[in-house]
Amino acid sequence: MCGIVGYVGGQQAAPLLLEGLGRLEHRGYDSAGVAVLGPGRESRLRVAKRAGRVRDLAERLPKRFAGKVGVGHTRWATHGPANDVNAHPHTDGKGDVAVVHNGIIDNAAALRAELTDAGVDLVSDTDTEVLAHLIGRSSAESLEEKVAEAVARVEGTYGLAVLHAAYPDRIVVARNGSPLIIGIGDHEMFVASDLAALVRYTTRVAHLDDGELATLTAEGFHTFRQDLSAVSRAAETVDVDPAAYDAGDHESYMHKEMLEQPEAAERVLRGRLDERFGTSHLGGLDLDARELRAIRRVKVLGCGSAYYVGEMGAGLVEELARIPADAEPASEFRYRNPIIEPDTLYVAVSQSGETVDTLLAVQEIRRKGGRVVGLVNVVGSAIARECDGGIYLHAGPEVAVASTKALTNMFVGFALLALQLGRVRDLSISDGRRLVAGLQRLPEQLGEVLAQEPALTELAGRLAQAENLFFVGRVRGYPVAREGAQKFKEISYRHAEAYQTSELKHGPLALIDASVPTVAIVPDDELTERNVAALHEVAARGGPLVVVTHAGVDLGDLPAQASVDRVDVPRNERELDPILLTVALQLLAYHAAAALGHDIDKPRNLAKSVTVE
Ligand code: G6P
Repeated sequence: MCGIVGYVGGQQAAPLLLEGLGRLEHRGYDSAGVAVLGPGRESRLRVAKRAGRVRDLAERLPKRFAGKVGVGHTRWATHGPANDVNAHPHTDGKGDVAVVHNGIIDNAAALRAELTDAGVDLVSDTDTEVLAHLIGRSSAESLEEKVAEAVARVEGTYGLAVLHAAYPDRIVVARNGSPLIIGIGDHEMFVASDLAALVRYTTRVAHLDDGELATLTAEGFHTFRQDLSAVSRAAETVDVDPAAYDAGDHESYMHKEMLEQPEAAERVLRGRLDERFGTSHLGGLDLDARELRAIRRVKVLGCGSAYYVGEMGAGLVEELARIPADAEPASEFRYRNPIIEPDTLYVAVSQSGETVDTLLAVQEIRRKGGRVVGLVNVVGSAIARECDGGIYLHAGPEVAVASTKALTNMFVGFALLALQLGRVRDLSISDGRRLVAGLQRLPEQLGEVLAQEPALTELAGRLAQAENLFFVGRVRGYPVAREGAQKFKEISYRHAEAYQTSELKHGPLALIDASVPTVAIVPDDELTERNVAALHEVAARGGPLVVVTHAGVDLGDLPAQASVDRVDVPRNERELDPILLTVALQLLAYHAAAALGHDIDKPRNLAKSVTVE
């Protein structure tokens, strides 16, 4: 959600910190700040922070901001509004300690009261400020001890990085529930909450586990537990291409990521299709045929787009494996004291692997003895580690808040899972082979949808003029409509509402007039005729139509004066068509937002990974 970077070494810290923060802005971006420990014997702490974007901070950074040790933060407000005072780093008021923090301190109110009673003047509304004071007031000998003492008093989640003027050669970091990665350079060390902020400088990293702390100096790092006992954390080299974290020639990350979908889909399929037996191999699932057969129900959990694609996935499981399946927002599931059944397979879906609602749902299921598999993009992320097994999505880094290539790979991951579940049951070998061939065609067909970008740009420009839109679909098409409406509203800020096409006449038709376009998902399947009949009802009331369908689908004789635009996407197998229809809606949402001049990668009020409740 928020982002953390830290640097200690031979270079000036501030430019490196600002560059790193720029790469983390998608995670949370209502304010930003940096702190450095200045040169000289007194090693003065300098702090600059403000509401707004990282570039605003960079433009207004004081001239004298020298220091070779520093920490930085991008914030997405949780405690208190986004203003200069609430921005991180937070200090102890004496200019000794600076703290940047991700996560939420649950007992902040009690700690604030205790500090206020002791005469401390708290200046911000944040939970983080208490940490700076706890560390500043500690009489322990070393910075390591001071930080360990402070985090021992804290309930909740944190990834944090601490500077102290009396210890000018180091940063002490601590992790509990919020990711922190140490980056190892040559006589310099980095820390960040996301690999994205490190890869330009180093691909040698070490991961901290929950409950662990580390000291970073220019010469290396030392990891330890809260009782100060050492733990060993090996360094590893991550196999990433730093260019994957750049938007390159694209006007935005979302555009780049949409266009990467064909190759991303190839990666998630690689080595997983079995043409001979018409099935899939999913090594990470860790379930043998007997265990797969014992599954009586599938429950999919995710948030946002991961939830909508989870609905598509549940549909695939029911259709191919004939196992009852449904999807539910992880945030709702975990708060209703869910019944955990031993023969249910729970599937957690998450791009980041960090979304706190999904993570806590996984923990709740496992605590009650349930079995969870993950469909996760970020390797080694919290959700991936908590699950019993899973399918990595191999979409590559996704930076734009609106998920595109990760979402497509989630769909493909579900198709692979459903195929395997189906083939140990009643899905015939010929149907299995039909779907394997369909999946093999999918990457190229995704490319064919993307090639329609010019026509969709023009259409999206017109749709952007509407204040209100409906997105409608039925059965396989309904989650497509839901995801399409979600994308449209999150980046264009237009009111887009998804409905089952069949339900239009039970209410929403009352809203249809020439100013309210309906984007209708009309796959070529057993419901086509019924879908088309509903289009006629909309057209008869003067509602403009955008029909997302396949070439050759007959829309009948719509009234001559009706406004009808048609988008034909390639046909795959009808079970797999939903993802091709979805990609057309991504392009519509993207170009509507572009026509309105919005900051597409960073939609207002939203963040890429929601790591707080
Ligand atoms: C946030 C993002 C959504 C995303 C959801 C789940 O709400 O704005 O775009 O779909 O989180 O994220 P995850 O990383 O768990 O897939």
